[in-house]
Amino acid sequence: MKSKITVVGAGNVGAQCAYRLAQREAGDIVLIDIIEGVPQGKALDMSQSAAVEGFNSAILGTNNYEDTKDSAVVVVTAGLPRKPGMTREDLISKNAAITKSVVENVVKYSPNSVILMVANPLDILTYYALRVTQFPPQRILGMAPLLDAARMGYFIAQAAKVPINDVYAEVLGSHGDLMVPIPRLSTIKGKPITDILSAEQIKQIVDKTTNGGAEIVGLLKTGSAYYAPGAAAARMAESIVKDKKEVIGTCCYLTGQFGIKDVCLGVPAKLGKNGIEEIVEINLTAEEISALQKAATSVKSLYPLLNL
Ligand code: NAI
Ligand code: 2OP
Repeated sequence: MKSKITVVGAGNVGAQCAYRLAQREAGDIVLIDIIEGVPQGKALDMSQSAAVEGFNSAILGTNNYEDTKDSAVVVVTAGLPRKPGMTREDLISKNAAITKSVVENVVKYSPNSVILMVANPLDILTYYALRVTQFPPQRILGMAPLLDAARMGYFIAQAAKVPINDVYAEVLGSHGDLMVPIPRLSTIKGKPITDILSAEQIKQIVDKTTNGGAEIVGLLKTGSAYYAPGAAAARMAESIVKDKKEVIGTCCYLTGQFGIKDVCLGVPAKLGKNGIEEIVEINLTAEEISALQKAATSVKSLYPLLNL
């Protein structure tokens, strides 16, 4: 039997994610939104591409949570995107209210699901979803470190003029100004970029990675990035439903790993059918741990805004 994957929010990121999941035949897809007609129309359009693309996943568009019943994974993209000049934190109160209404329905209709948060600000909303649902922390995770690493990988490939598949990029921490790109653990064909690129090139890569989302917001003017975010969310959802046990940078609830607890932050995690199967405690330098701790403190400083 195919797994059911629900994508909440049929906007830019949600539609991209749903379509990629269908193309990859990760499961049968339910696309749900509050706007009547939009998820239905997009699902129909995607379904009609099946004959061209040759995929067999069903895609249902709906406004009714009963259709999401017993989903294995629920990807939450419902929320407002950033506009120029807005920080992710500006979004918090509006998107926390949306997250609450969405995850309460997930608890009701898919109590055994894994929830993959995407809406911003990512780290704090992942924590909020955990608190609202009371799901075990293994079953609430967030997408962002994979996107941030994809951006860093792209910038490395551009700077070194190498194929993207030769590049591995490591980005941990929070999805925002305090993300922690780690050049020491980022490689080209297994060799650290610190041995290949100049300090100035690496600084530029780190700066462009940290500014990656804002640069696209500035260009689009009416919203934020969605091709790479949709691809990253789909890859994570697929990894979970197919129980792949891949290690992917994931926003996870920490309980002491890296000396940090009671916060959701980007760290390497093995993903499988139970969600986060293991948080992989790679060796970090004191400086890298200190950067992670700074990110944790910043995310925690937003807790009062959640009115928990
Ligand atoms: P969008 O505006 O295109 O789509 C959002 C959709 O959510 C809309 O269709 C809206 O009707 C729907 N929605 C609003 N309230 C809802 C509710 N209660 N139930 C169901 N659907 C609801 O926005 P976009 O570009 O798709 O971005 C979505 C979110 O993802 C934003 O918060 C954005 O900041 C975030 N994002 C996060 C990334 C990450 O790395 N974690 C990357 C890119 C975007
Ligand atoms: C991004 O990084 C806005 O979080 C979104 O593109």
